[in-house]
Amino acid sequence: MSDTANGQRMLGPGSRVLVTGARGKVGRAAVDALVAAGFDVTATDIARPVYDADASNAVRYVQADLTNGADAFSVVRGMDAVVHAAGIPEPTKNTPHTVFLTNVTAAFNVVEAAAHSEVRRFVNLSSDSVSGMTWAHRPVAARFCPIDETHPDLAHDAYGQSKRVSEVLCDGLVGRSDATAVSIRPTWVLTPESYAANLAPFFADRDLSSAVFWAYIDVADLAELIVAAVGRATPGHEVVYAAAADNIGGRDLASEMARLHPEVPLRELTRVDASGISSAKAERLFGWRATRSWRDHLDEDGHPLG
Ligand SMILES: NC(=O)c1ccc[n+]([C@@H]2O[C@H](COP(=O)([O-])OP(=O)(O)OC[C@H]3O[C@@H](n4cnc5c(N)ncnc54)[C@H](O)[C@@H]3O)[C@@H](O)[C@H]2O)c1
Repeated sequence: MSDTANGQRMLGPGSRVLVTGARGKVGRAAVDALVAAGFDVTATDIARPVYDADASNAVRYVQADLTNGADAFSVVRGMDAVVHAAGIPEPTKNTPHTVFLTNVTAAFNVVEAAAHSEVRRFVNLSSDSVSGMTWAHRPVAARFCPIDETHPDLAHDAYGQSKRVSEVLCDGLVGRSDATAVSIRPTWVLTPESYAANLAPFFADRDLSSAVFWAYIDVADLAELIVAAVGRATPGHEVVYAAAADNIGGRDLASEMARLHPEVPLRELTRVDASGISSAKAERLFGWRATRSWRDHLDEDGHPLG
């Protein structure tokens, strides 16, 4: 750990980081990236531990149900930073009550524990769903494209609102403790194994619309942003979107927006096949840039390479 000029402690190799949701898609990648960066990582999840000395125990693992406050306090105690990735990642496979209460209760318990401990940095996995379009019960028109942090938070569904509450809890954390926080709003997270099947419908039907204008992010790019957000000090609580630089299928975003979403004002684009979500703020704050693309895995027709 080292000190910055303004007195904020920066975390680096050797700092103790708790990753919640560590058996999940984002958590697994975050654990690997943080370990590679030299952090002293503890992984936690509600998933059952393995008691034998196998590969899953390469990183210290503690089972905890974070909807239980005592479990949350136990695993957060003694940490310098928390990456909170535990929760239900979308609303279609659980009841709204379970989605909202799981995500909000877990976020509250982990934030509450952080406020009562030595935690200095809290990285919260929020979601682009806070903007409101993705899971809307009634159509919600985006106010502009690309979506960025100045877009209003319009979520009215259980999942989007649960992620919005997690951000409110981070506001409270930095208001009442010495911790600083970052809420990352990733868009649809893809892995090398999931590109082909998940993106197939968008290659089969060029007219297939997407609530966030064909945005996606590679899990490895997201993991790098998580590492940067842990290690690079920013004051207060910052909220940043995170997306790949390009869009699904390499669409000409301006012409596809004019054709399929003529009601949505288009703002300046950095490239022809730009994402429908801008990560400019994350790039500015954290010196991070998404470098990976669906093109690393698929050809122009969406078929796996090789
Ligand atoms: N996957 C995406 O496309 C996406 C997009 C935007 C935001 N996010 C956010 O990123 C985070 C991680 O998503 P993911 O894709 O890795 O989901 P995931 O389902 O793969 O992983 C979530 C993990 O949380 C754990 N978990 C659930 N309830 C728990 C509880 N009560 N206590 C402890 N652990 C619990 C699960 O066991 C699971 O391992 C979530 O907060 C999600 O909202 C995901």
